[in-house]
Amino acid sequence: MQVLSPSDENIALAASFLRDGSLVAFPTETVYGLGANANDGRAIARLYEAKGRPRFNPLIVHVADREHAERLGVFDDRARLLAEQFWPGPLTLVVPLVEGAPINSLVTAGLDTVGLRVPSHPIAQKLIQFSRVPVAAPSANRSGRVSPTTAEHVAGDFENVKGLIVNGGRCPGGLESTVVGLAGDAPLLLRPGGIPRDEIETELGEPLHQPEHKPDAPASPGMLTSHYAPRARVRLNAQQARPGEVLLGFGPDAPPETILNLSERGDLTEASANLFGYLRAMDTCRADTIAVMPIPNEGLGEAINDRLARAAAPKRNGG
Ligand code: TXA
Ligand code: MG
Repeated sequence: MQVLSPSDENIALAASFLRDGSLVAFPTETVYGLGANANDGRAIARLYEAKGRPRFNPLIVHVADREHAERLGVFDDRARLLAEQFWPGPLTLVVPLVEGAPINSLVTAGLDTVGLRVPSHPIAQKLIQFSRVPVAAPSANRSGRVSPTTAEHVAGDFENVKGLIVNGGRCPGGLESTVVGLAGDAPLLLRPGGIPRDEIETELGEPLHQPEHKPDAPASPGMLTSHYAPRARVRLNAQQARPGEVLLGFGPDAPPETILNLSERGDLTEASANLFGYLRAMDTCRADTIAVMPIPNEGLGEAINDRLARAAAPKRNGG
């Protein structure tokens, strides 16, 4: 893919390529997305193919504002409340698809729901506005690999793919959006992410429920076990490195053999921003195993631990 600097002219150019069916990777406040025109079935087919993503795993549709989102999805009071509070930002709402909405059915993997997100990153905002189409964009990594937080990560994963990358430097958040399911009676936490569960529960005034776990038909098909997988094995809750391991630390008490520390001050926001980049960097050490110190399971820690558990799980194809 060809890397562009994020001038307005380049973003406009990328937007016109995007509208015309090309793949365009772009930064968001969470991770880089690999975008395609959600109306264009051929572009979406190319997107699944480039990622190596199974076609039963639906894509998030990115739009510039809530008004546009409401033309594609059915918003009830809960959806409106969350959209008002957290958009633009790292929240994806899965809501019923508006009948006849101009979204190719490959995007939703044939489901009658759609995942919608309004990103806050200024480059993502401009690209979507200039393109004047809804933009389907999964994380810009090959399926099952660690999500990208820099343009270099994207370029490395898609060396032989045709398309453009708008280089916006490092993504500030570093963890994908929180995915909330609002298509049924109980609100579901389909994927923990950049907005902690408790902030959403406070806004809703009720708890988020776990999706029912049906191995053959996951509620959020992206929730396959192995995902975010570096090449090395990953061992969790490590206090120190064993022979043949490299240690990814967290907090002020990390031992001296620590190679990288997610956050020396034990800050979960900083750890989120560093997580995927550090996993990729540690993977280049060619050690057999990356040992990771424990991360508290509160706030953003829930999403960090979710990604680490997936990185540690036996490898399988994800998204
Ligand atoms: O932060 C993010 O969300 C990034 C940036 C690029 O926006 N995107 C991202 O997309 O992480 P992706 O495709 O890697 O993850 C999308 C997740 C998957 O777990 C997918 O199964 C779920 O959202 N999803 C999308 N549409 C859905 C639907 N209709 N029903 C249930 N889950 C859905
Ligand atoms: Mg992904």
